[in-house]
Amino acid sequence: MKSDLQLIVSQAEAEFKSARSIHELDNAKSLFLGKNGKLALLFRRLKNLDSTEKKTFGNELNLTKQSIEKALSKFRKQILDNNIRKKLESQTIDISLPGRGINKGSIHPLTQSLRKIQEIFRGMGFQIAEGPEIETDWFNFTALNNPKDHPARSMQDTFYVEHKDDFGQNLLLRTHTSPVQVRYSIEHDPPIRIISPGKTYRVDSDATHSPMFHQIEGLWLDSTITFSNLKGVYVNFLKEFFESSKLTVRFRPSYFPFTEPSAEIDLKFSEGPLEGNWLEVAGAGMVHPKVIKNFGFNSKQIRGFAFGMGLERLTMLKFGINDLRLFFDNDLRFLEQFKC
Ligand code: PHE
Repeated sequence: MKSDLQLIVSQAEAEFKSARSIHELDNAKSLFLGKNGKLALLFRRLKNLDSTEKKTFGNELNLTKQSIEKALSKFRKQILDNNIRKKLESQTIDISLPGRGINKGSIHPLTQSLRKIQEIFRGMGFQIAEGPEIETDWFNFTALNNPKDHPARSMQDTFYVEHKDDFGQNLLLRTHTSPVQVRYSIEHDPPIRIISPGKTYRVDSDATHSPMFHQIEGLWLDSTITFSNLKGVYVNFLKEFFESSKLTVRFRPSYFPFTEPSAEIDLKFSEGPLEGNWLEVAGAGMVHPKVIKNFGFNSKQIRGFAFGMGLERLTMLKFGINDLRLFFDNDLRFLEQFKC
């Protein structure tokens, strides 16, 4: 009997040894240790034996089981070690190989546009200011003459954050870059001449809207600024950005709570694939006296203009891209077209 048991142990060892994977090992395991495996059958015989035989045979069976389990864990460890070794071998990097070339990456088209826009405005004496993407209700709306329950608030579908500000109002993801006008003006004295690029968020998603997009805000405050300055600055910007003087710009009356008068700026190309269509590129206007007051200035002495434009939209127009989602897909076939 004992030698039978020894035979089972060596059979088990041989089976375990030939297993090439954990899966095969588990199959071999059930042959010996499974519910209907060789050992289970022997354990079932115990009940027919008298008590002394039962004791000796039971003991031997337990020892056999232990030996098989020991062999099992030994071979399991071998297989696992082997797997790790194979994986490491397949991942080795030959650091003596020559480089594959440094010309792989390229600048994202949105970054290219942003850099160009910043360069143009820097050339006109603007500084660059930034603000937080998570804003308070006051900076995003109230300070911009957009009080609670004002219908203009629903012009922008807002993402709210669970946390509240010091006044018990929910924080939010800024819906535009205009709050940076407020933050900057509270901390600086006129003349103020800034652009403020950054991420903005609205509940909206389709071929021309993304829940996250980029705006560039502009603000020029001084004692003598007029609507003509807005026109001069913005038209000059558009000509430089599109590298074309063959475009017409139109200031169409509009409404924003924080500017008065307000305008939407449209442009029309007289050449190229977009020739002849009016395309909206920015919102703008003279900063509302109430907003000037919220900045902490006397609205009789300080005036200025502001504008806000979408970086994705301008870049789509410049490069002839018709789906805004392409900017965020990270598809190399798209990105590689903008290598420069
Ligand atoms: N903040 C406005 C928007 O997001 C744009 C704008 C900025 C309009 C500044 C006027 C002045 O729609």
